[in-house]
Amino acid sequence: MRQILVTSALPYANGHIHLGHLVEYIQTDIWVRFQRLVGNRCVFVCADDTHGTAISIRAKQEGRSEEAVIADMKAAHERDFAGFSVSFDNYGSTNSPSNRALCNELWQKIRAAGLVVEKSVTQLFDPVAKQFLADRYVRGNCPKCGAPDQYGDSCDKCGAAYSPTDLTNPVSALSGATPELQSSPHWFINTEQMHDFLATWTRSGALHEDVANWLAGAFLAEPLRDWDVSRPAPYFGFEIPDAPGNYWYVWFDAPIGYMASTKDWCDRVGEKFDDWWRSDQTEIHHFIGKDITYFHTLFWPVMLKAAGFTLPKAVHIHGFLTVNGEKMSKSKGTFIRAATYLQSGLDPHYLRYFYASKLTPKLDNLDLGLEDFVAKVNGDLVGKVVNLASRTAKFVRETGLAAVYPDDGGLFAEAAAEGTAIAEAYEACDYNQAMRRIMALADRANKFVDERAPWTLKKDPSKAAELQQVCTVALNLFRQLVVYLAPVMPRLAEQTGELLSSPIGSWNETQQPLVGTAVNEYKHLLSRVDMKQVEAMVEASRESAPSNEPAASTPAAGGAGTWNDDRSALDAEPLVADRITIDQFTAVDLRVARVIEAKEVPEAKKLLQLTLLLGGDEKRNVFAGIKAAYKPEDLVGRLVVMVANLEPRQMKFGLSEGMVTAAGPGGPEVFLLGVDSGAKPGQRVH
Ligand code: 2FM
Ligand code: ZN
Repeated sequence: MRQILVTSALPYANGHIHLGHLVEYIQTDIWVRFQRLVGNRCVFVCADDTHGTAISIRAKQEGRSEEAVIADMKAAHERDFAGFSVSFDNYGSTNSPSNRALCNELWQKIRAAGLVVEKSVTQLFDPVAKQFLADRYVRGNCPKCGAPDQYGDSCDKCGAAYSPTDLTNPVSALSGATPELQSSPHWFINTEQMHDFLATWTRSGALHEDVANWLAGAFLAEPLRDWDVSRPAPYFGFEIPDAPGNYWYVWFDAPIGYMASTKDWCDRVGEKFDDWWRSDQTEIHHFIGKDITYFHTLFWPVMLKAAGFTLPKAVHIHGFLTVNGEKMSKSKGTFIRAATYLQSGLDPHYLRYFYASKLTPKLDNLDLGLEDFVAKVNGDLVGKVVNLASRTAKFVRETGLAAVYPDDGGLFAEAAAEGTAIAEAYEACDYNQAMRRIMALADRANKFVDERAPWTLKKDPSKAAELQQVCTVALNLFRQLVVYLAPVMPRLAEQTGELLSSPIGSWNETQQPLVGTAVNEYKHLLSRVDMKQVEAMVEASRESAPSNEPAASTPAAGGAGTWNDDRSALDAEPLVADRITIDQFTAVDLRVARVIEAKEVPEAKKLLQLTLLLGGDEKRNVFAGIKAAYKPEDLVGRLVVMVANLEPRQMKFGLSEGMVTAAGPGGPEVFLLGVDSGAKPGQRVH
């Protein structure tokens, strides 16, 4: 029995789980369930990744503490994962006492190993927000081609890479202020001292050959640069004990979160931490997306090695998700949140199966073609697997399975022999191959049922014994497939256990047919998917495309690059260069208002007449040019943001007493500004 510790990348606490993330959590969970099924000891831990600037900005935007933001997000993440049957043994947080303690421990050891160096770093500082600016929070003109409004690290016009201090006319994305240069001490890890170690470890078999080659070419061919692991205050994270006023960079404490989550689990169940992280008896397997490869294959092994912990036995790396062959897109409705999928009524295990059918050990992207999804689920799961039981179980409801396994022409034995190859495919993360082999077995089993036609035998009472035999074979072949599929379809395995009065708990159950057990009433196992359900989910994603998602969000695990916003809107309507003062801004009285009545204005082609309630009997009559974009009945009840102190204007049809705020070029492309539910009519927008 192997002892295995498995992790998935820790999702950031500044965004919800979407189908891109799920590629990884489902991939990992299948591997974990496979290991448990074959009898290995396998513990699966994860946690929310909670620190860093993005969380602070979100908290500020939402007017609450960072702790409140991360607590809500953690609860939402856990709900989503449970919905997709992801079977963590522990789900922690990087903002935990155990993580702080482990960060201290690793830090001291890395220091003692002589790897920490202190250097002064000159960085752009926002004098208004009073903080140093990470590259993505500085915008300005490209130093090479002069293109305006570029990020601090690279130009999306000419592709030049530079540092934010090279930008001309830099502006802080936090406050709009002109940043200043300031120096402060930073603490670095000198990874170059571990160059030889990395050269060996990356070739130890822990990494796919393509990854090892890439690292060798892109990083290890030259001396490694020092890694900056500290950030000066203010920063949401852990203060470095021996460098007060400075915090560990989020990427220092995040992977230590793997250990902290293990520690929390150990404390809860009475295990010893050292048996898992300081023991050559334990295999550590990380599953990650390709965007975070170098953190896990360069920095992380250095930290572990220097601090004397167990090195990963393998880092399994997957590609990104595309939907219908393209990056996930909010406007197309293909940026689908886990919660939206769950609410759609589609069975979460269908997505598990679909992903499994596509996943290989390679780094290729995985495409969720929505029609392909429907065809695969209906064709394979419903048409080939469940069909075996639905066509036979009812005929042996009274007799149960035959007491002796009948002659099936070698079908069961052949499928049992296939178990080795299927297990090898699971072990190698080649689920595509495992699924293909399983479906090939399903084809053979269906052929058997078609040929022996139990529904015909049923009509002839003299064939009762043969009927029982045919159904015993069919249900055994079915059950064998379900055991092979159990890592992917755990609920189907449970249901099958109930149907045949024998719970499925081990891979070995594929090797021995089941005889003589009772067959319970056949309850519907899986339903066909209708493309309409999928379309409704896409539609719901389009609607819920969150306007409150932070624009500066960091790409998420498994989903990097899924923000698909180009700058066409900015180009169409350039940013206003003139600055206003805060007083000028507060002079505009923006208010939350509820639309309590909306009607067409027959004489006006573009206008709707809205009655907006600010609370009590404080109402405003407003004419808004949104007729091409909204139906009156869809607006009633909705919260909008209005300008409440605009000079009233007499129009042909009546007095307009304000303005509702909206974005977009006009016509059908008008998008009303809303606020999150919970806001109250009359509240001021600051
Ligand atoms: O890329 C990400 O989403 C990170 N939050 C992953 C962290 S994984 C680990 F190192 F903690
Ligand atoms: Zn440029």
